[in-house]
Parts: sequence; structure tokens; C-alpha cells
Amino acid sequence: MLQKKQQGKRIGFVPTMGALHQGHISLINLAKNKSDLVVCSIFVNPTQFNDPKDLEKYPRPIEHDIAKLEEAACDILFMPEVGEMYSKDEEWQVTLDGLDEILEGKYRPGHYQGVTQIVYKLFSCTHPDVAFFGQKDYQQVMVIEKMVQKLQLPVELEMCPIIREADGLAMSSRNVHLSPTERVQSLALYQSLTHIKEGWGKKSVETLKQEAIEFLEKSPGISLGYLEICTANNLQNNQPTNQSEAVALVAASLGQTRLIDNILLP
Ligand code: PAJ
Repeated sequence: MLQKKQQGKRIGFVPTMGALHQGHISLINLAKNKSDLVVCSIFVNPTQFNDPKDLEKYPRPIEHDIAKLEEAACDILFMPEVGEMYSKDEEWQVTLDGLDEILEGKYRPGHYQGVTQIVYKLFSCTHPDVAFFGQKDYQQVMVIEKMVQKLQLPVELEMCPIIREADGLAMSSRNVHLSPTERVQSLALYQSLTHIKEGWGKKSVETLKQEAIEFLEKSPGISLGYLEICTANNLQNNQPTNQSEAVALVAASLGQTRLIDNILLP
């Protein structure tokens, strides 16, 4: 990779945990447009899972993933083993100024430290000029941005739009765990976000938030984690006005499956 870089090739990197769907492939496509050599990694990163059962049941359809990457004309697949990425009892942290303790971080302690550890290591292996992350994991993009800024890493970041199923559900590797009933019920997440988007500028931020929460609390099968409207650039829940750039973020469980989604406002 370094050799390619020295030849003046721009390296685009798409880190993933596999079980690839169109959301991942959209990142590969954007990377193809914006770089000369596209590297995708597949690594189910143990340090970002809080629940060992979740890690164990994470889908790993590797043949299918390779076929998808070939179809998308991805140049390089990097697929390391756990032992190659981590030494035993490894412990280090990046200071994220509390960004890892809010929203998802509150529900998944240590999750974002695990994400920054692996993304840092993957960057060190792949030497990207530009790395592509999905808006689907909005807080993750903010966390990676913070790490890049704190450690002054020489990499540009690109946030790519959320790819959805035709009915609005954000694509996710976890969607395969939804039963047919839960799959229908899961639409409430996107509906709550579009309700906020449609009302933006017409009703107060607090009213929209309360209406969306009430809607989700009444929705069958949904166990709400949080719904927050935050300022887009720092995720502070400091009452964004409907004039400022904001983001509405939601997390909910359907049975054993936890889903997240978000929408940019206005
Ligand atoms: P994973 O969940 O596999 O996602 C890999 C990348 O695909 C992330 O940047 C994610 O935001 C993006 N993505 C997922 N669903 C998407 C969708 N519906 N539309 C657009 N992009 C989508 O995120 C991770 O893996 C890991 O935390 C990782 C960054 C690889 C570190 O282990």
C-alpha cells in the first residue's frame, strides 16, 4: 500500500465488519469515485462489543462478502485475524472529550474506545488518504473525527449518506435478525425521524421530540433506548433551535435486536 502511495496513488479506505449490504457498497462506490485504489477491511472487532453473545452471533457470510466486493470492483480486501490486530490485555484510550459517553456510549460503555482502537490500527495498516464512514453511525463519525483531530492523523474523512430499504428502514447487518413481525414494526424508527423532519421549523424542537418519543412508546414491539435532537457538529443536547444544523438520533430494540437511525435537520 505504501508503495502505491509513493507512486502518487490516492488510497481510499472503507472499514467494515462484513455482512455487506448496499449501505457498505455505497461507501465502496464513493471511494471508487474519490480515490485511485480502494481498500475495504472486514474485521469483526471484539473490543467494540459489550455483549459476548452479540459478538458471537454477528453474521459472517464471507463468501457472499467477497462476491459483493468483486462485483463492486473493490481493489483490496484486508481481513486480519484478531491475534494480528490485538496483543493480549491491550489497554489504551483516546481522549474523546466525553463524546464516547453520550447517546450510544451511555448504552454501550467502552464501545467507542473499541471503535477508535481498531480504526486507528486499520489506518496504520492501510495508510489511507481518505476514509469513508456512513452517516448511519453518526456518532461514530464524530468520534473518528475527534480521534483524527486529537492524534493529528493524516487522513481525510468522508461521511456518506444513509442507504435505506425501499420502505425506509436503514440497511444494517443486524436487520437479518428481525423476525417478519419485527421487520414491519422496525419502520417506526424512520417514521419517528421523518415526523421530526417534516415538522422542523413549524413546531418547537421540544414538541417534535416529545411527539416522536410518544409515537415510539406507543409503537408495538419497540423498546425505546433514546431519541435525542442534538446540534450536528458536536452532538451536544443543548436545545438546538430549528435554525441551526441539527441531527435527530434514535435507538430502539425489537426483541433481541438493537437498531439505530438518524436524520439530519433541516
Ligand atoms: P459496520 O457496521 O460494518 O459498518 C461499516 C461502515 O458502513 C460504517 O461506516 C457504517 O456507518 C456504514 N454503513 C452501515 N450501514 C449503512 C447504511 N445503511 N448506509 C450507509 N452506510 C452504512 O461501523 C462499523 O462496521 C465498525 O464500527 C467499524 C467502523 C468497521 C470499526 O470496527
